[in-house]
Amino acid sequence: MSSTSVLIRRGHVIDPANNIDRPMDILLREGRVAAIVEPGGIKSDYDEDFDAHHLIVAPGFIDLHVHLREPGQQHKETIATGTQAAAAGGFTSVCAMPNTAPVNDTPDVTTWMLQPDRGAVVNVFPVAAATVGSSGEKLTNFRDLQRAGAVAVSDDGKPILDDNLMREVLRTAARLELPVVQHAEDPRMHPGASMNYGANSLRMGLRGMPNTSESSIVLRDIRLTRESRAHLHVAHISTAEALEAVRRAKKENLRVTAEVTPHHFTLLDENIGHYDTNFKMNPPLRSAADRDAMIAGLKDGTLDCIATDHAPHAYHEKEQEFDRAPFGIIGLETALPIAITVLHEHFEIPLLRVVQLMSTNPARLFQLMHRGTLAVGAFADVTIFDPKLRWKYQAATGYSKSKNTPFDGWDFTGKVMATIVGGKPVYLA
Ligand code: DOR
Ligand code: ZN
Repeated sequence: MSSTSVLIRRGHVIDPANNIDRPMDILLREGRVAAIVEPGGIKSDYDEDFDAHHLIVAPGFIDLHVHLREPGQQHKETIATGTQAAAAGGFTSVCAMPNTAPVNDTPDVTTWMLQPDRGAVVNVFPVAAATVGSSGEKLTNFRDLQRAGAVAVSDDGKPILDDNLMREVLRTAARLELPVVQHAEDPRMHPGASMNYGANSLRMGLRGMPNTSESSIVLRDIRLTRESRAHLHVAHISTAEALEAVRRAKKENLRVTAEVTPHHFTLLDENIGHYDTNFKMNPPLRSAADRDAMIAGLKDGTLDCIATDHAPHAYHEKEQEFDRAPFGIIGLETALPIAITVLHEHFEIPLLRVVQLMSTNPARLFQLMHRGTLAVGAFADVTIFDPKLRWKYQAATGYSKSKNTPFDGWDFTGKVMATIVGGKPVYLA
């Protein structure tokens, strides 16, 4: 399948953007979708074919929130290894957060990340820092960063705390139609915290982050969004209170969107067990009530998309006392299997909704044109998966340079079988 035209035949196509949820054949030619027709309907020539019988054929998945660690932290991940992990997870596009070293706060860094020498195997869309060095003092040059290829601005890893600065970020971004991605946390409320605040943090003797740390920032940001008409995108939302604030903002027709990670709709703070740092991330795993709220938000549309917050860290960095280890877990290779196992199999959410959450909606949120759809003329980014295959995930065999995941050894239903970017296969199971 390395040729210029590929026929994907006998698959079940799910393309929510075009209301397609039935068997179709798809012809990819010269990097675009050339035709999508009833099974057996392609009469023209093609170089190769892929038999997708019993498989789902979907527009390529798009992850709005990954940490690729380049430049500067190549011992954790590189753009090459991170995008290989993305391909194995069915992601054809990833948005790379700016908390690199140096921070992606200049067009030079953005441009460098996009150079072919980085060896990316899927599309990379940089998210630029909103403030210089992400230090929350002075705005970066949004226009220049956008021209260099940035698709959104964020100080992810840190919140933009100052009201006036956040107001300025939203106003400036609104003029350029750039989404503002906020890491909603008020660390002034919980210095030194390493997990969720509650019965479990008290039992474990660790300082905790209360839900209000997240919801107070989300409420403040919604208020500022009302003034600016900007697009506020809440990163990795984790609490019932913040979710309810987003629900109300949507009813008000504000441009407020939100993503949730697979771990926040699957795991609880009580799963941390014996101080296992592979369960340490920010925002932290929350209570059952919060997890249930995330499932409700995925069902009712309050949550717009699933994003992994893929945050690789080296073994020696995670191998420390719980409160000293860095926040973050990898997630690119487990996102679809978790979505199928937890959302589809257990909570009976239709696969169409899963595809919407992983492809259609993320493309729309960051205005990634001609992606998140299999319409004729769209980029030939395609994810083919088996929704029924049962398998055991083993982090050691993964493509990411890092192995920090709480899902090692889990039994999943649903597996990516092929990932095609621009008409070329970049992963085959
Ligand atoms: O767990 C996290 N890890 N949360 C963040 O906000 C940052 C990320 C990282 O860069 O490691
Ligand atoms: Zn974050």
